[in-house]
Amino acid sequence: PSESDPWRPAAHLTASQNWINDPNGLVYENGTYHAFYQHNPHGNFWGDMSWGHSTSTDLVHWTQQPVAMEGSASEEIFSGAIVPDTKNASGLGTAENPPLVALYTSSYGEGGALPKGSQAQSVAYSLDHGTSWTKYKGNPVLSLQPASNNFRDPKITWYEPGKYWVMTTVVADAQVVKLFKSTDLLHWSFLSDFSGVGAQGGLWEVPELLQMDVDGGNGLKKWVMIVSINPGGIAGGSGMQYFVGDFDGTRFTAENAAKPGDRLRESQWLDHGADFYAANTITAAPGGKPVLLGWMGNWDYAQSVPSTPWRGSMAIPRQLTLVAAGSRFELHSTIAQAAADALMNAKTSEVHGKDLTVTDSTEALGSDFGSRSQLIDAEMDVAGSAEAGMVLRASADGKAGLRISYNRASQTLKVDRSAAGTSNFSPKFSPYHQASVPMKDGKVRLRILLDSSSVEVFAQDGSVVISDIFFPQWGNTGAAAFSSGGTASFKLSSTRQ
Ligand code: FRU
Repeated sequence: PSESDPWRPAAHLTASQNWINDPNGLVYENGTYHAFYQHNPHGNFWGDMSWGHSTSTDLVHWTQQPVAMEGSASEEIFSGAIVPDTKNASGLGTAENPPLVALYTSSYGEGGALPKGSQAQSVAYSLDHGTSWTKYKGNPVLSLQPASNNFRDPKITWYEPGKYWVMTTVVADAQVVKLFKSTDLLHWSFLSDFSGVGAQGGLWEVPELLQMDVDGGNGLKKWVMIVSINPGGIAGGSGMQYFVGDFDGTRFTAENAAKPGDRLRESQWLDHGADFYAANTITAAPGGKPVLLGWMGNWDYAQSVPSTPWRGSMAIPRQLTLVAAGSRFELHSTIAQAAADALMNAKTSEVHGKDLTVTDSTEALGSDFGSRSQLIDAEMDVAGSAEAGMVLRASADGKAGLRISYNRASQTLKVDRSAAGTSNFSPKFSPYHQASVPMKDGKVRLRILLDSSSVEVFAQDGSVVISDIFFPQWGNTGAAAFSSGGTASFKLSSTRQ
């Protein structure tokens, strides 16, 4: 970041210039993490959709590569996935040099293979580790009859018992996930539909089916279906819900899922902030746990956020754990190990600690907590019915700042960006977001990743996450701890980038 580009993240993926949205084709291959993403190579707004490309070895520092696949007037390149076809089942490479195979959505315009406005799934492949891409001659490889205008977002998982790949896609405006199978990534046959549960109040987009070990479950495995919804998310506009259940090779069945109108159960959400969407996992990521990368944006206002010459950034990659909790399973998210290691790297970062107790007041934390990009670990012991927390990116007079607070009486965590910076670019830029966060051993532990224009708050070891973007003034680098209505003790440490 610099005074002329004050919101440029230090620890998150952005394009050097122009628009980005969903991450696509996430894959770890040949020692490199690849992130492709929805990108407009020609402007700082959604349009001319193409796959941009960046690579990383630590999930924090990214190197932008040339645009991988450029959209055209007849075919825009929407979201999709990449599969390392290690046995060359597609025949698009050779046994010695197997291909990376991309399944992406063709969104057709005038002169496209299908009628203007329709969407279908297509294939492209790379024989040089993702640098250059060739479209398959037989595209599209999968379309609906009659052609649909909302059939998109393929993501692929390998189903070992059946020895085939399973593709999840959506018919977005019907709130249906469609599953297909293939043994060569080119010919797909229909398996089943998944629908009728969870939040329904918007488009279903970017689905993913993955199998996970239950944490401490003695080998017990479950299947998880992740579905983005827009609008209708928990924090307004775009959000991400998930369902836990089983997959028998044909059908995914959610267990204990909320049905529309269900008053006893709530939908389960990957994030309780406004800016986490279209996340999907990195295929073949090392480390044994799924690593999820999301777009830090919300269609409610993403197109008018004030950053320039770039717009849109990715969230910090997270690793997912599936935890048994009462009658349900929950996904917990922590910063992916490789990213956490890079953020905590002793060679490049300074660590500062501070313990303090605050009663009905606000205490400045000084410059150790006052940088634009830092990782903060906060353990808070909030007494009685106090509400306590931190203000970050505060102005000198204390009037402006991002406020993260915990209310002990209601056991809720709140991130309030209403006084954190520029917000007049959209009436839909929601002021604050909150979530229920029970205390553990009488304490609340937060890991806060602050960057130039975003905050990600991982509460209680990642059982709840709140991700929000905000646009602070360059000079606002104050920080404070506060408590009102009683006393709170803080154990804080910060690692600056
Ligand atoms: C989700 C989405 C996808 C689509 C892409 C277009 O944010 O709407 O459904 O493929 O973005 O850019």
